[in-house]
Amino acid sequence: MHLRTPLLGILLLVAGLARGQTPASLTGDPRLDEKVSDLLRQMTLEEKVGQLMQHSSDDNATGPATKSNILNEIRSGRCGAMLNVTGAAYSKTLQTVAVKQSRLGIPLIFGYDVIHGYKTIFPICLGQAASWDVAAIEKADRIAAIEATSAGIHWTYSPMVDIARDPRWGRMSEGAGEDTYLGIQIAKARVHAFQGDDLSRPDTMLACAKHFAAYGAAQAGRDYYTTDLSEATLREVYLPPFKAAVDAGVATFMAAFNDLNGVPSSGNKFLLQTVLRGEWGFKGFVVSDWGSVNELQYHGYAASPRDAARLGFNAGVEMDMESKLYYPHLLGLVKEGKVTEEQITVAAGRILAMKARLGLLDDPFRYSDPAREKATLLRPEHLEAARDLARRACVLLKNDKQILPVQKEATVALVGPLADSRIDILGSWRGRGETSDAVTLLKGFQGVFPSDRLLYARGCDISGKDTTGFAEARAAADKADVVIAVLGESWDMSGEASSRSNLDLPGQQIALLTELHKSGKPIVVVLMCGRALTLENVLPLADAVLIAWIPGTMGGPAIADVVTGAYNPAGKLPVTFPRSVGQIPIFYNHKSSGRPQPPGERIQYKSNYLDSPNSPLFPFGFGLSYTKFTYDNLRVSAPILHAQGEPLTVSVTVRNEGGYDGEETVQLYIHDRVGSLTRPVRELKGFSKVFLKKGEEREVTFKLTPADLAFWRADLTFGPEPGKFEVFVGGDSDATLQDKFELAAD
Ligand code: GLC
Repeated sequence: MHLRTPLLGILLLVAGLARGQTPASLTGDPRLDEKVSDLLRQMTLEEKVGQLMQHSSDDNATGPATKSNILNEIRSGRCGAMLNVTGAAYSKTLQTVAVKQSRLGIPLIFGYDVIHGYKTIFPICLGQAASWDVAAIEKADRIAAIEATSAGIHWTYSPMVDIARDPRWGRMSEGAGEDTYLGIQIAKARVHAFQGDDLSRPDTMLACAKHFAAYGAAQAGRDYYTTDLSEATLREVYLPPFKAAVDAGVATFMAAFNDLNGVPSSGNKFLLQTVLRGEWGFKGFVVSDWGSVNELQYHGYAASPRDAARLGFNAGVEMDMESKLYYPHLLGLVKEGKVTEEQITVAAGRILAMKARLGLLDDPFRYSDPAREKATLLRPEHLEAARDLARRACVLLKNDKQILPVQKEATVALVGPLADSRIDILGSWRGRGETSDAVTLLKGFQGVFPSDRLLYARGCDISGKDTTGFAEARAAADKADVVIAVLGESWDMSGEASSRSNLDLPGQQIALLTELHKSGKPIVVVLMCGRALTLENVLPLADAVLIAWIPGTMGGPAIADVVTGAYNPAGKLPVTFPRSVGQIPIFYNHKSSGRPQPPGERIQYKSNYLDSPNSPLFPFGFGLSYTKFTYDNLRVSAPILHAQGEPLTVSVTVRNEGGYDGEETVQLYIHDRVGSLTRPVRELKGFSKVFLKKGEEREVTFKLTPADLAFWRADLTFGPEPGKFEVFVGGDSDATLQDKFELAAD
């Protein structure tokens, strides 16, 4: 059945403006609009449905794979996109089948998880967030885009912008942590890094905001599990980074796996129509997560595969990733009158518009040049950027007696299961990062310490019960001036389908650390992990603790730079580190309750535990330096902020009073004392990174406007409410330096 509609009609349709309004351009370019409309005019219904199908290549499935005869699907026009196709040559092979052997020769679009690098692997995104260095994060994803686009990839399933308040959830590793404000800044930067200012450039690619929405709010921290939260919390905490991605022009969205308030995200009209299209005006297309449309059946939301296709498509999921349902079920649903051909034309048009914007309708092979790929991957400047961001990601949690930095004249015992692990240093979602390119801590330290003063012993495995390696590790410690124990999680203990119910160091690592501690030598623990861990049993055994996260290809040299003082650590925690799993969920921007437990001694009949303080082990925003920063002279420019008046200026003097030059992330928090809904005790509303030479001081200023004080109020409108506020400025979310102001009712 051919739908032959004149250009204007198709524009109206695809732009979703069938109500006779002036059609907004699909692609921003009339020439490309014409190309898209011309194709739609020629396409059969089956071919339009074909554009909505995304199949994985068989050699690198990132979900429960089901085999398909992919070449046949491409030739028949039943495949619009693929994922996990990497390499210029491979993409060229498949693109040639699409362009030369299908009826209309519509090129494929190739998507891939370029999450923290493509071939040059950067720290995991949680580690990147710990740098609070938005420019460095943007640079990392720009490099990732340059490498990935040289390897035939048009589209990344990134940024992952899920707020995560529960470290049992393994995918905390993939995002920007627990705070919405920090998450917004990073979401914007990542979208721009991938898409640039002009998608027609061959080194830019489509970005994808995922996983829409509130996937990180999984009950019990269990991946793929139920999420159930108020609309106010959804809008206040979880949606803003997605909105920021839309405002940054993100080309695509990925619908999530989770059941949100009883309606699975991949069948959720409130999310995909009311909010995404209606409130936010999103113009791109929505892809499902792997099989997430099919899974509507397992949620108990769809009664059959066809019902799942109907519910997913009618909710607004335009592309079917690996459910393999849209073809053929949408054809049947059109016949049954449950889906219209117009809807399918709109969806296909949005996908074709993105192919056009990438330049693929003009030149389908512009991303498939093996020579460009060879000249682009692992460039020295890419590796240097990876080393730099890995340094910036490190968070110093403890440094008693200034054990760190280690003197270069020292004899070092480098011990632990993660000191020389190539695969674990790359982490999950490592793209096409090769273990052969990974520089481990042992290799990094060998670049600093001569072999006679660098003693290495594995000590134990990451997991398991074997302690036979303890003696060798202890012997190394006995010979050394300082022990550096590299402990933590394996690469696959975080990321997708990697929730943990116990966040202690796994296996025999604590026992190993206990054995090393008996040597009486100073001990530095370097932790490689994809989440907040519970460290109460580590702290008494370590003089210093450095969180390196999962640092990527150049993790070894980066950590050596930090440990030896070539770089003064400046990272700040993007997530709260709990004392125990029993405290979870625990996050800094919590509510007061009607019986808040004051800091200090436990008071009966207050909100507290019989067996633990309420406070975390380390708060959001915390991170030490080798130097000492002090804050004073906090000033607010006026006692009253007026709706139409000048912004408030909040200023503070920061001093470097220690013995090292260093960088500090100055953080601004507010507390809205009274609201139509209860307000968090603290909210991050600004941060500024300042580099101060030793002895130097700087005045740091922030601006606050009424818009900065806005929240989702009791009537679910968004805006500020007059009243009293406190401001706090300091080096973490427990900042004590405070002042106050009032928002006038004018
Ligand atoms: C996975 C993940 C998603 C990823 C997709 C494609 O299941 O949930 O983050 O982008 O499938 O690999």
